[in-house]
Amino acid sequence: MNTAAGVSRVAVVGTGVIGASWAAHFLAHGLDVVATDPAPGAEERLRADVAAHWPLLADAGLAEGASPDRLAFTADPAEAADAADFVQENGPEREDVKRGLFARLDAAARPGVVLASSSSGMGASTFARECAKDPGRALVGHPFNPPHLIPLVEVVPGERTDESAVQAALAFYTAVGKKPIRVRHELPGHIANRLQAALWREAYSLVDRGVATVADIDTAIAYGPGLRWAILGPFANQHLSGGPGGIAHILEHLGPPTEAWWRDLGDPSLTPELAAKLVAGVDEALAGITGPELAARRDALLRVLLAAKAGAGLP
Ligand SMILES: NC(=O)c1ccc[n+]([C@@H]2O[C@H](COP(=O)([O-])OP(=O)(O)OC[C@H]3O[C@@H](n4cnc5c(N)ncnc54)[C@H](O)[C@@H]3O)[C@@H](O)[C@H]2O)c1
Repeated sequence: MNTAAGVSRVAVVGTGVIGASWAAHFLAHGLDVVATDPAPGAEERLRADVAAHWPLLADAGLAEGASPDRLAFTADPAEAADAADFVQENGPEREDVKRGLFARLDAAARPGVVLASSSSGMGASTFARECAKDPGRALVGHPFNPPHLIPLVEVVPGERTDESAVQAALAFYTAVGKKPIRVRHELPGHIANRLQAALWREAYSLVDRGVATVADIDTAIAYGPGLRWAILGPFANQHLSGGPGGIAHILEHLGPPTEAWWRDLGDPSLTPELAAKLVAGVDEALAGITGPELAARRDALLRVLLAAKAGAGLP
């Protein structure tokens, strides 16, 4: 039996885009997965999604004994949580649904079993209120899409989360090959989604002001700073931009102009007109390439990039 930081069976609750990807990831690390989702046809879709993700995971290297056959499915979240050593919740991003789910998961899971929510923006304090048995094990374990490829997981404790649960989550995610970071305070959107939101705000504003097309902005990032950001974070890159003086020099040299740019940044509203402009811009930029085709090309390249990064001695 394989274990990762003491976990041999994971409950994956909600098997849409994120849950299916998590399930494939845990299976590839040789763990047992018991999944649950109330939607009609969910089990068939999940098994098809795991099969679709498997070739890239196999390419990255499977744990001994890893198999899609170690996936079990139940329609009952309590049954899934009862059997699990770690619970990864991936239901819809709606507070009422998550609160209801956490009440049921907490009632069913053994005390001490971590209940981690994939929530993109909510805090664990909200869900912990529903956990009558063991509120200290509720936290956010926020992955990036697709979790079977992107290493980052943001571990965000709520106001009642026990330190032991945070440590258990950090150890488990590390043991299954993720790169977890601990978020020090609950904030809507955690860290990485707030950074993305800051960029999207200005990108939407530039389209709204007619400065750039959607395609121009995608080109600017994907063929510009995005290439560096895939290798090093914004601070390390900025340090390199400063030459021998490093980040201290760049802050002194380009800090004042940057402050002037901040004062000109946009604050757009997502009006129906702007939303329509963004949707039309994406349609035009992709010129008929379907979402699944583009995701497959992106994910194949991500695999190559991650493999190259693994041996490069980067921080
Ligand atoms: N899509 C992303 O890029 C992304 C990235 C990171 C985190 N997340 C987070 O992951 C979670 C899931 O997002 P998604 O994109 O996979 O959504 P999704 O709509 O693809 O999947 C949600 C799934 O939850 C199921 N569901 C509905 N009610 C449920 C219940 N009571 N119990 C269990 N399952 C239930 C639905 O049938 C569906 O299969 C959200 O909290 C979201 O914020 C999403």
